[in-house]
Amino acid sequence: MIDFKQIIAQEIAKVTNLSAKELESYIEVPKDSKNGDYAFPCFHLAKTLKKAPPMIANEIKDKMEIKKEIVDKIEVVGGYLNFYIQKILLTTEVLKEIEKNKNYGQSTIGNGKNIVIDYSAPNIAKPFHIGHLRSTVIGAALYNIYQYLGYHTIGINHLGDYGTQFGKLIEGYKLWGKEYDIERDPIDELTKIYIRINQLCKEDEKVLEACRNNFKKLEDGDPYCNKLWKKFRELSLKEFQKVYDLLGSKFDSWNGEAFFADKMQEVIDTLENSGKLIESQGAKIINLEEKGIETPCIIVKSNGSTTYATRDLAAILYRARTYDFDKTLYVTSYEQVLHFKQVFEVAKLLGMDPKYTDGLEHVSFGMVLLPIGKMSTREGNVIKLEDLLKESIERAKEIIEQKNPDLENKQDVAKKVGVGAIIFNDLANSRVKDEVFDWDMILNFQGETGPYIQYTYVRTKSILEKVEKLPKFEEINLEKLLDEYSQIIIKLLYNFEEILIQVTKKEEPSILSRYLIDLAKAFSSFYNENKIIAQEKEVQDARLFLTYAVGKVLKIGANLLGIQMPTKM
Ligand code: ARG
Repeated sequence: MIDFKQIIAQEIAKVTNLSAKELESYIEVPKDSKNGDYAFPCFHLAKTLKKAPPMIANEIKDKMEIKKEIVDKIEVVGGYLNFYIQKILLTTEVLKEIEKNKNYGQSTIGNGKNIVIDYSAPNIAKPFHIGHLRSTVIGAALYNIYQYLGYHTIGINHLGDYGTQFGKLIEGYKLWGKEYDIERDPIDELTKIYIRINQLCKEDEKVLEACRNNFKKLEDGDPYCNKLWKKFRELSLKEFQKVYDLLGSKFDSWNGEAFFADKMQEVIDTLENSGKLIESQGAKIINLEEKGIETPCIIVKSNGSTTYATRDLAAILYRARTYDFDKTLYVTSYEQVLHFKQVFEVAKLLGMDPKYTDGLEHVSFGMVLLPIGKMSTREGNVIKLEDLLKESIERAKEIIEQKNPDLENKQDVAKKVGVGAIIFNDLANSRVKDEVFDWDMILNFQGETGPYIQYTYVRTKSILEKVEKLPKFEEINLEKLLDEYSQIIIKLLYNFEEILIQVTKKEEPSILSRYLIDLAKAFSSFYNENKIIAQEKEVQDARLFLTYAVGKVLKIGANLLGIQMPTKM
């Protein structure tokens, strides 16, 4: 498609002798389309050209020789130059491309770049909680979008499968394993064992010692301890997989913390050699005060064991070597802000090419607030995610049952709607915001929700079903799409690729979610104002084609967010 922004920048460059690239970065899309399709704020040039912005604007306008077939008119408003693209050209470009390209919006800008996305990462023998769900959903959306833009993406589930708690679990299982049915309900039962052994450790120093011993044995490869660890891990994964199956999650690597058990010595040695690793109360730490981080990063605890941070450092080294990443994104809640600040700072001491440490980024997100307050394991109000997703599917099914009792494949549609609603809710707002979880809001077919996008898509489908065949692009008279409502849609469709790029610039899938809401709303207005099945064939064909285009982009966009589209609902 024609890049209008680039053309405008090149034309301004010709008359100002400034770099087109720089000029392009100043070009804005006006909020109100009455001010044109693109605006160039001339105050950026006031200093260099030593003139007042309105004067610059007028001069550029007079000198510019931009083709009339491309730009219909240019207006000067204050210090702004407003450009109005030829509607026919824009409409042609967009619709032609949508017809011919089954992956509309796809790009090659990411070719040759490797993006590691570290997401989901629940902890073995502990509940997969709603924060992990949010990580899974945000991570997957970023993964899909980067991939669509041509990046080589590596999705990693950095499982919490290591640490001293396994020594305790092993001891608890040794003592009371027979009393618990961990095959049937692994997470719940292992949690019970964990709570019980913790209690006993508090009462009996000898038991605590035995737990520590178990962990040491585990590290040294003791067969019995390893067998149990494996068992806990496998059973937990089987449980987590139920959630992943519902969400459709996939990972390229399941290398969790334990994978780095034998790779931490290198980190410790390198830090030791850097002279920055200091002893403090028996522990080995890196002081980061100079870097503005008050809490030191603990590398080896006073009892000799390594930490979560040490494993993350080993993972950075490993991933740099294995994936040669341009970026690594860590998707976790903002509770881990300090952890990643520390780790990214200490990573600079590992002697890697700075391109790697520059590429580390914490993609943090807010809490999920249930009506009863923050979800936490400690407070005991944990909702099982599998149950949450199933409840959503059930509720979606009830709504469908009311609205469309004769629908075929109700269960399948309910699954897409119920799961889609939860995914969309996780991505609907800027990720740093805490998220409110409210069933009525999430599943409202008329609200700014996943089901609303699905519903709009289904509507486009049913309109297209009313006619025998969709007109071809060459057959339509584009003059019939120059009205206000059609043009709002055309512009949105034109912006799709740019929206995806924006998502990756800010690691913010909500930009795409908002866009899909805008597109669905624009279609609703178009539908209410313009009769699609009309008397005049030319009008009908043109509007049908636009309907098809909207449906196609809604589907591509929703799929990128991880949401499946039903064809009827
Ligand atoms: N398992 C951790 C948790 O539940 C998240 C891991 C995030 N990834 C990482 N490389 N630290 O909080």
